[in-house]
Amino acid sequence: MADKNVIKLAETMDARVSQLAEQHHIIELGGGQARLDKQHEKGKETARERIDNLLDPHSFEEVGAFRKHRTTLFGMDKAVVPADGVVTGSGTIFGRPVHVASQDFSVMGGSAGETQSTKVVETMEQSLLTGTPFLFFYDSGGARIQEGIDSLSGYGKMFFANVKLSGVVPQIAIIAGPCAGGASYSPALTDFIIMTKQAHMFITGPQVIKSVTGEQVSADELGGAVAHMTTSGNIHFVAEDDDAAILIAKKLLSFLPQNNTEDAEFVNPNNDVSPCEELREIVPLDGKKGYDIRDVIAKIVDWGDYLEVKAGYATNIVTAFARINGRTVGIVANQPKVMSGCLDINASDKAAEFIGFCDAFNIPLVQLVDVPGFLPGVQQEYGGIIRHGAKMLYAYSEATVPKITVVLRKAYGGSYLAMCNKDLGADAAYAWPSAEIAVMGAEGAANVIFRKEIKASEDPAATRAEKIEEYSNAFNTPYVAAARGQVDDVIDPADTRRKIAAALEMYATKRQPRPAKKHGNMPC
Ligand code: HXC
Repeated sequence: MADKNVIKLAETMDARVSQLAEQHHIIELGGGQARLDKQHEKGKETARERIDNLLDPHSFEEVGAFRKHRTTLFGMDKAVVPADGVVTGSGTIFGRPVHVASQDFSVMGGSAGETQSTKVVETMEQSLLTGTPFLFFYDSGGARIQEGIDSLSGYGKMFFANVKLSGVVPQIAIIAGPCAGGASYSPALTDFIIMTKQAHMFITGPQVIKSVTGEQVSADELGGAVAHMTTSGNIHFVAEDDDAAILIAKKLLSFLPQNNTEDAEFVNPNNDVSPCEELREIVPLDGKKGYDIRDVIAKIVDWGDYLEVKAGYATNIVTAFARINGRTVGIVANQPKVMSGCLDINASDKAAEFIGFCDAFNIPLVQLVDVPGFLPGVQQEYGGIIRHGAKMLYAYSEATVPKITVVLRKAYGGSYLAMCNKDLGADAAYAWPSAEIAVMGAEGAANVIFRKEIKASEDPAATRAEKIEEYSNAFNTPYVAAARGQVDDVIDPADTRRKIAAALEMYATKRQPRPAKKHGNMPC
């Protein structure tokens, strides 16, 4: 029987061209029509459909379609493995060049052996060489078992390349099928993970967990997109399906520069910075009342349009990309409607990661501050709130991009510093007349410093109320901070967009050299 891997060349050029077209057709069919149909039955697109839908029409230039593995064991010498189970190459998205890889589950379950990993790593190297973003669709049973440690080595090389690209070109992982075991460390090393509801990701699956710990859990509960968004915080975006994931990827990319030497594209500037009086109404003066900070964000950014990152995780802080007067910004905002906007372990991790990304890719940071403090509690202390909270201090202090901070209401103690005050390098800091910038809230402060007086008083409740007011008048205003230069100006909330836009313009040319070092050592 003829070996399907051996191509007997035809006699004429025309015939060879036909033969070439036939070879392409075979490769494009991946694991065959039946397996491609199965992919559709599972609500998933095929590897090539994903690339076609992601890239501008006809822009895809495939590289390595004819690459083959070189394994001979377990029948692999006879196996036909088109493109070795991964489609790689380059193309454009809204005219901007990118590099892509897409695992083909129809070919040996998208499993990654030596050649597949080499193809992926070579594509990543091309991203580096050309300064273009790298996007990778993961849909794979993991290391190709027939190839043994060559598969492991391939993953090792992928991880190494992920880290090499980190901070140089944006890396976006789209988990669109299984991504199990050590394989999940590759997306974990990228900048953003978009996960579809058809996908699963875990280090050890439900079967292994059941046999080791006895716990029973479904694949969805353990490693579905919702679990990763709301519980583990491993991913950045949940998508209904492949099409939705692709839309998210495109929108995300639109906010990002091509690489760390460029600025994000200046897009469709909206020069309207006229006062927005509605901003005076959104934030209640009563600090006990919550509100949705996203209503404030929508009034400040161009067209009210922003892309929230990790929208379902640590919802007490909001991280989002948006534009202000055409410039991309990263917004970090406390969310008073969740846990009064306190910072906790998860919020600190979420914010620090986002700040680090923005700084690496020249995206100015805008802070909207309404924070009563770090969340008190034994679990928070045992969980390491000290080192987690320190990440925010570290990330802001390290960031050299323009940093613009606006205090809307509460800004107490360490959490005020952690939201990037002037001492942590805010270039412009503003406060609304509702701002309370203080070491702590008036109630807590009065309880500490007037404790004896309150206790000795004939009417402790009245004395306490009096002392709270006294402290509040003395410190819980924006004017003490303004007098110390901790804020540059106290502003009408209606002018917030104009003030931020002006500061972005002013600091667009900011250059801030730091002492030479190999790299810093962020708390983990
Ligand atoms: C080789 C694989 C494979 C793998 C799947 N296939 N995973 N071939 N190596 N890792 C093949 C199957 O044999 C099958 O081939 C085809 O892909 C489709 O798989 P199915 O099982 O039929 O699909 P499905 O029922 O959808 O299940 C998908 C799956 C399951 C959950 C991913 O295939 C699975 O559990 N695979 C093994 C996962 C695993 O243990 N991987 C290795 C982990 S070790 P045919 O010819 O029948 O169509 C690892 C270490 C990495 O990844 C460490 C890096 C540091």
